[in-house]
Amino acid sequence: MSRGRELLESAGSQEPEACAQWLLASALGMGRLEPLAEPGAGVSPAAERTFMRLARKKASGLPLSYVLGWHDFMGLRLKVGPGVLVPRPETEELTELCARLLKGQRGAGPADILDFCAGSGCVAAGLAALLPLARVTAVEKSARALRYAETNAAAHGGGRIRALLGDNFRGLGPFDAIAANPPYIPAGVIPGLDQEVLKEPRVALDGGGDGLKVVRMIAADAPAALRPGGFLAMEVCDGQAPAALELLSGPAWAERAAYKDFNGKDRFVYGRTNG
Ligand SMILES: C[S@@+](CC[C@H](N)C(=O)[O-])C[C@H]1O[C@@H](n2cnc3c(N)ncnc32)[C@H](O)[C@@H]1O
Repeated sequence: MSRGRELLESAGSQEPEACAQWLLASALGMGRLEPLAEPGAGVSPAAERTFMRLARKKASGLPLSYVLGWHDFMGLRLKVGPGVLVPRPETEELTELCARLLKGQRGAGPADILDFCAGSGCVAAGLAALLPLARVTAVEKSARALRYAETNAAAHGGGRIRALLGDNFRGLGPFDAIAANPPYIPAGVIPGLDQEVLKEPRVALDGGGDGLKVVRMIAADAPAALRPGGFLAMEVCDGQAPAALELLSGPAWAERAAYKDFNGKDRFVYGRTNG
């Protein structure tokens, strides 16, 4: 493992030790820590070659999850790779928040939910796992990303997720809830992002000049797609919550709030329609 770790270190990869452990485990078809539990067990020349091939890919600047081909989201192993955003930890919080709010308002019965800007379909898969009677519609604009969402829906949706290609949700619904993690990074900030993040699709990151282009569209279209008393829960960038809440202040909205992420930042906005 040391050759691969040194390669990652010299390439400036973050957390080279942990990455090398994941890549070795992947080459051996094991869990991350299993090779460490059996340090005496030999690594075959074929597994060593696979490991070094993966290490070279990682050293070239690809996100670890692209090299592995999967990402753990709420304990679900989701297929990811070039062409789709790697799900982030705060989006697990968005998913859990949405499920908690829905259960609190409507109980654990059947519900229709929209996952807009679905990417890998992580939010849809997480909601289907947390809400066994929910039906989830996942809408994604990128055909390349949608293929990952379809695969993940088939693997984790229990037949309750449909994945659709689209760049808006007009004409869909009615839904009890809309969960959305739209692209929200201001366009001017994108060139300065970490090189690994720049390997992810620009359409997943770029929220236009002020970062709020898609956020604005979602806030405007949500009331018509929601049942009376239904809600929108949306992830936004640190600092955007006040502007996003302002978009949920019209007569269609009965209630609105911001929720904090695990770092104490207002990263999720919530709006409930009259009903
Ligand atoms: C920030 S990523 C979120 C992906 C996934 N929900 C997640 O949390 O990992 C935003 C996603 O929205 C998609 N997207 C961007 N504009 C869109 C639009 N107008 N309609 C539908 N999807 C859009 C992008 O292709 C990308 O997959």
